[in-house]
Amino acid sequence: MSHKELPLHKLGMSTLAVHVDEGKDPNHAHVTPIYQTSTFSFPDVATGARLFAGEGEGYIYTRLGNPNARHLAHKIAALEGYDLLRQNPDKPLTEVADGWVLATGMAAVSTALVSRAKAGDTIIVQEVVYGGTFGFLANVLAPRLGINVVWVKGDDCESWEKAFKEHPNAPLAYAESPANPSMDITDIACVAEIAHRYGAWLFVDNTFATPYCQRPLSLGADVVIHSTTKYITGHGVVVGGAVVSHHLDYIHGSFKTALTSMGTSPSPFDTWLTNLGLKTFEVRMQRHCENAMKVAQFLESHPKVAKVMYPGLESFPGHEIAKKQMHCYSGMISFELKGGLEAGIKLMEGVRLATLAVSLGNVDTLIEHPASMTHAKVPREEREAIGITDGLVRLSVGIENVEDIIADLEEALAKV
Ligand SMILES: Cc1ncc(COP(=O)(O)O)c(C=O)c1O
Repeated sequence: MSHKELPLHKLGMSTLAVHVDEGKDPNHAHVTPIYQTSTFSFPDVATGARLFAGEGEGYIYTRLGNPNARHLAHKIAALEGYDLLRQNPDKPLTEVADGWVLATGMAAVSTALVSRAKAGDTIIVQEVVYGGTFGFLANVLAPRLGINVVWVKGDDCESWEKAFKEHPNAPLAYAESPANPSMDITDIACVAEIAHRYGAWLFVDNTFATPYCQRPLSLGADVVIHSTTKYITGHGVVVGGAVVSHHLDYIHGSFKTALTSMGTSPSPFDTWLTNLGLKTFEVRMQRHCENAMKVAQFLESHPKVAKVMYPGLESFPGHEIAKKQMHCYSGMISFELKGGLEAGIKLMEGVRLATLAVSLGNVDTLIEHPASMTHAKVPREEREAIGITDGLVRLSVGIENVEDIIADLEEALAKV
């Protein structure tokens, strides 16, 4: 049965994650099949010409669009547009928010940025972002594409205001909240208001929070970016990205042109796997959030731990803003041991349940060292100035039984 009549504005998040755009297979497959094809046939020349002219619905070639990719994009748009759907009960999803899925999270970041900024522009970016994003901005966007990057302290709204005052023509501000790996919290509503006053858009990388914990579009952001490799897929089986916005002209205009021209499109199988993972999104996120809070509290009370960065802890500097804009605090924790780097290495090598690996948001617990791994591209001096010290350890808390995660950390900490 087709689900197209479902009243999306009335449905809960888990229901959306399970049902959006399902049940549309012409052969009535219960689970949407994989459209593992590079190209699509046209019944006649006129239809092919119409599709190329952008008239009517249909598919041409997988780089330009594929049913699995569109399906996943609609689902993520429904989750990020969850509140907007409720505010616009008479509108179908595609008139409220829409998006595209891409080959990787970095494909999403880079395609989003080049589809909005051009050579000669200045863009305003928070200083703590994922190391790959930093690398793209510092090594490609600025020197090769001539887009000037001004770095600001993400968790200080005044520094965004100051940057816009100095660069009033900046077309966009770029935030990541919580930031990878410092967990810095950007006041999304505050930065969106400043950006809009200057006629700019706010882009938010929502990978750490996910739409379960935070929905930037509802807080005033213009464009949301994801590495779907992480919580959206949840099982660590694919790399992928997504970009969602309520600016539909942008999504179907300059963003689509950049994506299809640069060929940052995903494979049908990867998007199918991500859609499968997304079906358990809400139950996974509930458990990630519950577990991470308990693990953060355990770490905070441990005598060998110097500092814990988790937005859900009252001791965390960004907690008040996090409480205002997040429904829960997701599964990422950063912390420093009193023994610095040496102690951190002992801990990372001492755990048995947690896996020493980069990436995050998987059902299993992962532990890593940002200074030598995810943020190695950030020069040491800049890294230390923004709190990514050699002693910082990043933990992606999984959905295992929390007592087992804590016991694993306790055992490894005893050896430090
Ligand atoms: C916050 C954030 N954004 C973007 C990315 C890039 O995603 P991908 O590795 O899927 O390209 C990552 C990867 O770790 C990330 O943590």
